[in-house]
This record gives sequence, C-alpha cells and structure tokens, in this order.
Amino acid sequence: MRRIGVLTSGGDAPGMNAAIRAVVRTAYARGMEVFGVERGFQGLVDGVFRPMGPRSVSSVINRGGTILRTARCKAFLAPEGRAEAAALLRQYEIEGLVVIGGDGSYRGAHALGVEHSMPCVGVPGTIDNDINGTDSTIGYDTALNTALEAIDRIRDTADSHDRLFFVEVMGRESGYLALMCGIAGGAEAVITPEDAPPIPELVKQLRAGRDAGKRSGIVVVAEGSPLGGAQAVADAVAAQSEFQDSRVVVAGHLQRGGVPTASDRILAARLGASAVDALLAGEADVMVGVSHNESVLSPLTTAWETERRYGKTWMDLSHLLAT
Ligand code: F6P
Repeated sequence: MRRIGVLTSGGDAPGMNAAIRAVVRTAYARGMEVFGVERGFQGLVDGVFRPMGPRSVSSVINRGGTILRTARCKAFLAPEGRAEAAALLRQYEIEGLVVIGGDGSYRGAHALGVEHSMPCVGVPGTIDNDINGTDSTIGYDTALNTALEAIDRIRDTADSHDRLFFVEVMGRESGYLALMCGIAGGAEAVITPEDAPPIPELVKQLRAGRDAGKRSGIVVVAEGSPLGGAQAVADAVAAQSEFQDSRVVVAGHLQRGGVPTASDRILAARLGASAVDALLAGEADVMVGVSHNESVLSPLTTAWETERRYGKTWMDLSHLLAT
C-alpha cells in the first residue's frame, strides 16, 4: 500500500488531532503517503483532499476539535454518493482509508468497503464511549473531566444555597458518560437511558438524602434519558414533590471542546498508529481498540450490531455511595 487517506467524521472529540498526527507520522515512517480528507465523508464526495506530512501535524497534539474538520454527510448515506467518493479515491490512487469517528461513521466506512472494495479501518473517536471493542473511545476521558469540573463548580454553589441542581450531560443514547460523571462527582442520583427511575422513586431518593442530613443535591441527567432532559426531570420533580426551587444546567457542547487529557492523547497515539499498521497488514472493515491494555481489532459492524452497556455494578455503586 503506497497511499492512504484519513478523515474525521461525526461529532468532534478531543484527541482526534492526536489521532490524525499518529496516522500521518506512522504512515510516513512506514514509507506511505497520506492525504487528509476535509469535513469527513463530505470531503470524500466533494474531493477535498490535501497531502499531509509530518510537519502538517506539528503542534496539534494538544488541540481539541479536528484540524481536518468534520461533518455529518447526507450524500454519503446514498449509494450514488459513495460511488462518487470511490471514484475520487481511485483518481487520487488512495488505497486505504482511516476513519476516525463513532458508529455512524463506521456505517459509511463499511458500506464503502463492501460496495467498492476500499479497505477501511476505524479509530473510535467520540465523547460518548458507546462503542464495544475498546475500553475507551478517544475524547471520552476529556469530556468526562470537563463535565466533572462543571459538576464540582455547581457543587460549590449548591452547597452555599442548600439547593438541588439537575445537570444534563451528553452521551446520545448511552448513559456511560453521565453515570461516570455522577460517580466521580458524587451525585445524589443519576438518570440514564438504561436506568431511569420513575419520578416518585427519584423523589424518594432525594428525600432520603435530605433526611440523612444532605442540604444540597446534584442529579445528573443523561441527555438521552427517557424522562426527558434535565429541565423536564426538574419540572416533573417539582410537580410531584416539595423540591420546588431547583436549578438546571445543561453542560452541552462545552463537553466537546478543550485540551485533550493525557489519557486521550496516549490512546489516540496508540490507536492512530495501530490503524495504519492494520491497513498495512491487509486488514479491512475493522476498528482498532484497546482492551485490558491489549491492542485489539473488531469488525466495524460491532459498533451498531452490539450495544455498549456500562454494567449494573456501576449503577449499584452510584446508589451505594450516594447515601
Ligand atoms: O456523539 C457525540 C455527541 O456530542 C453526542 O453526545 C450528542 O448527542 C451529539 O454528538 C450532538 O450532536 P451535534 O453536535 O450535531 O448537536
């Protein structure tokens, strides 16, 4: 393989730049050329490719976002869009593609591979940590720490005013990020898509805390909670209890930006290099991951055919320590 492409797709995640850097420099070290594709699959369809070398990725390891930019591309969902992309890849003599993103991005990569025999290797980059085949996705650790910092700050003001706060955390259909924020931030309750107590049960938990001497409280609400977002939960609690004077904070896209943590940079370095080596070894239609400190490959299809669950013991731990 002489020339590969690299792109970032879907929601940006801190550490994606460190992954791009690792891809470019590993490929260069192995004697290959790299083209960066701008704005994810949109750039593939539009043919926005730029040659990259070791100096194109200088001083990006510590930057959030993605220097290649990203997009959620509708055209790529259609076979015609993928055919155009494949034709452009052939024109540029690109023989393999590294796709840094989440499960939506892997669907596109898988289809491109199946329909046009383009070897694609996925690198898990999303703050949601919702993909099987790796213990952690790039960006998750940074987002966790960012949301945690927000929770710590809210704790100060909640304590000062004896107030209850509902804090909404991202994660799409996964409660992983929210639950770990809750455990690390000492939340009184965590509501996730996987575990959402009925409102009377939540009220019971909050009363138990108050009766045990807690004057303030933080409830972490995953954005994908079936009870609705933090505002909806706060409203429902107010309608059914004496907890009337709560406040709501939506952490939102703050969680997506910022300087990647050391863990995310190290993970990105390792996964970016593994992805290039996987392509060189003739692998295709796989995602690279790190599990129990071992580098592992899993089929791209795993990302949408299996659901990443956080395991019941984590929610039990959250309850146990919230007393
Ligand atoms: O997948 C990453 C993520 O940040 C989710 O947590 C969130 O639901 C979604 O992206 C937000 O997407 P957008 O930036 O398009 O609003």
